[in-house]
Amino acid sequence: MLNLSVKCCNISFPNPFVLASGILGVTGKSFEYTIEKGCGGITTKSLWKNPHPGHKNPTMFGTDEYFMNAVGLSDAGIEKAIEELGEYLPNRKAPLIANIVGGKKEEFRDMAAAIEKMEIKPDMLEINISCPNVEDEFGKPFACDMVSAAEVTKIVKEVTSLPVSVKLSPNVENIGLIAQSVVDAGADAITAINTVGPGMRWDIDLKSPILSNGVGGVSGPAIFPLAVKAVYDIYKALKNNPKKIPIIATGGVNSGRDALEIMMAGGTLVGVGTAIYYHGDEFWKQATDEMNQWLEKEGIENIEEIIGIFHR
Ligand SMILES: Cc1cc2nc3c(=O)[nH]c(=O)nc-3n(C[C@H](O)[C@H](O)[C@H](O)COP(=O)(O)O)c2cc1C
Repeated sequence: MLNLSVKCCNISFPNPFVLASGILGVTGKSFEYTIEKGCGGITTKSLWKNPHPGHKNPTMFGTDEYFMNAVGLSDAGIEKAIEELGEYLPNRKAPLIANIVGGKKEEFRDMAAAIEKMEIKPDMLEINISCPNVEDEFGKPFACDMVSAAEVTKIVKEVTSLPVSVKLSPNVENIGLIAQSVVDAGADAITAINTVGPGMRWDIDLKSPILSNGVGGVSGPAIFPLAVKAVYDIYKALKNNPKKIPIIATGGVNSGRDALEIMMAGGTLVGVGTAIYYHGDEFWKQATDEMNQWLEKEGIENIEEIIGIFHR
């Protein structure tokens, strides 16, 4: 009997797939449906402390190879999210990861503290540090600076009892070093990668950018090689850490075989976002069937055996 279940930070997931942040909002019904369709866990979109407007339409543009989005992390604020999650969490059938974002370190702390007060809490926190640090002279994203990435991690860890995964940006010189610094600051897991770029596309007839924001983060199959490399580098940087840090490997995964590959590069869980725009909710079943077939052919009973095998 094949076993697709994995443990991440001591939390059991029925299979390695988690819905990546931002693909669905915080509505319990859509989470329930996604789990029913075979996904192993859910990540909420990024939650802000206060309501956050996001960008004007058009905010998304897709081709067969990639998507570009400039949704701008629109959100109704943490109070509303806590209300909605409070209804979903008691009857959840699979783990829920709450993703939080902020422009200042204190905002991350305040949100983590608010979630900590919930009667029934999410299973994990994911901190999206790809946003510009408004207190930095140049607005450099927290994720692009070892020191501020570590500071956000530390301030969140001080107020939460939940395991914390720090979501890293691929737009850095050495992602392994950033991973090391957030782990030294207390991170329990790493999520990698967020969108790449930003990129830009123009409408040659209108002579205007396709997205209202002008630029947008790139996701989908075209970024898969970058995600595999990032996960490989992070695993390599952390493999001797006694805490055995799991990676939520995300970026361009578009099939069961992609998921197996990125797990072999070092992923414990596999985050999937853009693939849902290509395949719909059937993705989860198709991809887990494909993984099962491969594992059977290879005579591997337990999927956890393949994590990081490219490093042996
Ligand atoms: C429409 C859209 C919205 C997103 N919103 C968020 C978000 O709110 N927070 C976040 O951390 N990442 C967000 N992301 C990034 C994804 O979670 C993921 O890291 C990235 O898209 C790469 O994975 P994929 O190629 O499977 O989509 C968003 C991506 C897309 C396409």
